Amino acid sequence: MTFTKYSKIACSVAMACALGACNPTAPVETTATGQQQIVTLPPQNTGMDQFISGLISKMTLEEKVGQLHLLSSDWDKTGPTLSVDYQQQIKAGKVGAVFNAYTANFTRELQKLAVEQTRLGIPLLFGYDVIHGHRTIFPISLGEAASWDLQSIQAGARVAATEASAEGIHWTFAPMVDISRDPRWGRISEGSGEDVYLSIEIAKARVHGFQGDDLTATDTVLACAKHYAAYGQAQAGRDYHSTDMSERELWETYLPPFKASVDAGVASFMTAFNDLNGVPATANNYLLQDILRQRWGFSGFVVTDYTSINELVPHGLAEDLPHAGQLALNAGVDMDMQGAVYSKHLPELLKAGKVSEAQIDKAVRRILEMKYKLGLFEDPYRYSDEQRQAEQVYKAEHLAAARDGARKSFVLLKNDNKVLPLSPTQSIALIGPLADSKADMIGSWSAAGDRSSKPVTLREALVARLGADTQIHYAKGAGYEFTDTDQSGFAEAIAAAKKADVILLAMGEKWDMTGEAASRVDLGFPGTQDALMQELKKLDKPMVLVLMSGRPMTINWADEHLDSILHTWYAGTQGGHAIADVLYGDYNPAGKLPVTFPRHVGQIPIYYNMKNTGRPYEPEGPEQKYRSRYLDSSNQPLYPFGYGLSYTSFAYSAVTLSSTQLKPEGEITASVTLTNTGDRAGEEVVQLYIQDKTASVTRPVRELKGFQKIMLGKGESKTVQFRIKATDLAFYNLGMDYVAEAGEFNLFIGNDSSTSNKAAFWLTDSVQLQSAMAITQPQSKGIQ
Ligand code: BGC
Repeated sequence: MTFTKYSKIACSVAMACALGACNPTAPVETTATGQQQIVTLPPQNTGMDQFISGLISKMTLEEKVGQLHLLSSDWDKTGPTLSVDYQQQIKAGKVGAVFNAYTANFTRELQKLAVEQTRLGIPLLFGYDVIHGHRTIFPISLGEAASWDLQSIQAGARVAATEASAEGIHWTFAPMVDISRDPRWGRISEGSGEDVYLSIEIAKARVHGFQGDDLTATDTVLACAKHYAAYGQAQAGRDYHSTDMSERELWETYLPPFKASVDAGVASFMTAFNDLNGVPATANNYLLQDILRQRWGFSGFVVTDYTSINELVPHGLAEDLPHAGQLALNAGVDMDMQGAVYSKHLPELLKAGKVSEAQIDKAVRRILEMKYKLGLFEDPYRYSDEQRQAEQVYKAEHLAAARDGARKSFVLLKNDNKVLPLSPTQSIALIGPLADSKADMIGSWSAAGDRSSKPVTLREALVARLGADTQIHYAKGAGYEFTDTDQSGFAEAIAAAKKADVILLAMGEKWDMTGEAASRVDLGFPGTQDALMQELKKLDKPMVLVLMSGRPMTINWADEHLDSILHTWYAGTQGGHAIADVLYGDYNPAGKLPVTFPRHVGQIPIYYNMKNTGRPYEPEGPEQKYRSRYLDSSNQPLYPFGYGLSYTSFAYSAVTLSSTQLKPEGEITASVTLTNTGDRAGEEVVQLYIQDKTASVTRPVRELKGFQKIMLGKGESKTVQFRIKATDLAFYNLGMDYVAEAGEFNLFIGNDSSTSNKAAFWLTDSVQLQSAMAITQPQSKGIQ
């Protein structure tokens, strides 16, 4: 038997238990005189609802409001924090959940305060930003997305949950499912890129990875879909900036990964910081009530982002903090992260009739339900397990999975003259500020990941791999801070390069140049890196760039002048080894870009599934001037969405269709034969795109509708098939009904979003898949 406050007290009435008349999970109350007595509740096995109703009926208003309060421990801060003694608040029953607290010991200590020192002993919920690993860090999320490997992504989330839950964490603030088409926005690194279909698939994989099949299992954690909604379209790419978009854009592009998370059973949602079409997301009835609760039927709880209730005041929506609390609760926000607006102001708002007790009870219930589902009422300490922690963190299998996940995330952007893979007989000059920097290996939002000793740098990995047989001449050479102008390291780098057969550059962005509050207006190489590259080029030696960044960068010069470029994002704890595996050909890279790389910042937003316009630019066309184009740049990206090379090559046959006529209830099959025409085994991500040629509203030039990752041996061929149904063709029409309209479609299958390998088919009749009713209904007035 596990000993909780509930069970201890209950079973201290030994006779009652022996007679089967006690309820081992019944809450206890402390009377005014300090005596504890068992609260009469129906036995837990009669169901969660009854248990929670009973508990709520015993709670004071202050205790209820306490459950809605999420407070950061002072361990790790992500923003302005309130100067409170959080331990005192827990003991006073004023806190329902704590974040930024981990390790079995520390969470146990905090849990004890709640379980043993509050009147009802309701356990705390521990949350944390376990985004791409907990201790063992995997590649940043955008990098993982570049693997297009859903199994590997799910496995990464599983490892993260296993390590985090062993350190007392119950709940992760992930997955981040914000689509973004603006690489100026630093948080593009936290999502899955620009595409709806890919983001949906990855959102599902991550939710399943974190939550597993059974929330009561001690190696699973609650997931949280964030940041709801449209945060990724911050104007001008400036973090926290407003978003303003059409209903169509919202529903077609920004909402689908959230909906997919609900369908995958995600336990919680986090509201976004941004204003959406005039109403900040944290007070947005339309998002939180009409869409999330009513249309999607979400039954988990909604937490705010960090102090985002308080921010309703500077947004200009709330007059003061009480008003902000009123707006947020009425919009359907259950839990207040760090702002303490609910805990300070809900009692007075209730008294004034601005909110109702029924609303508060609803929010409390949703939070208690999750605590119940995790099994915390049975044993509040079940996740704070020192032994499991010792066994699980940095476990060999986890490190191996991180190394494999990293190799899968790398994208080979260029490889002229087959400079890669390298041969161990070549001496190398390893140059750049990112070649031997542990801090930069794991990227932002790296949870409890160690930044100073655990990450393996590229230099360390090369030394370990090549031993004394290969000469490695290392020089940092350049600075990567925006303010760096000092070129005094160039001489050493040039001297190193002169001694080597190959120049291997490790350059890009410093780790904290992406992530939250890390927007940039210039996406070139910061500091003196560009200048050093250009000096080294004068030596006329083979040059390979290992590019590390959390976003697409404008790397035109490097693309034009260097032989090979491998994008490795921030590759995680085992990053150095993973990069070396690819540089030396132990692993053949197969990653594909989940986001378009612009040539110039002025092209942003640039994404593959744009509209055609009435004047599409046709370089070969007769007339050039009055076309949708730039005077000083091509329209084309530097690298398109879905792009990535391999050490081998692949040939695609023409697309064949089982029929050119698709009936509403039927399906057709599209096939290509893929052949590995190169000299080694390799994987290819075969991508399917569809274009609705003419419709009642204009449609994108093409949209990703499927992909398969195929491994082929040298010379091997395989037929790859995709099944297409009317549901794959649906979109929101003018009336916002979700329909597939009869007519002609182009279908493309190839190696990236620019493929011209296509066939045409017709949908014979239109189909309405969903009516607009729930989308267009008047905005609700809040929870009644
Ligand atoms: C971020 C969230 C994060 C939260 C808690 C905020 O600043 O926007 O993504 O989950 O902090 O750390």
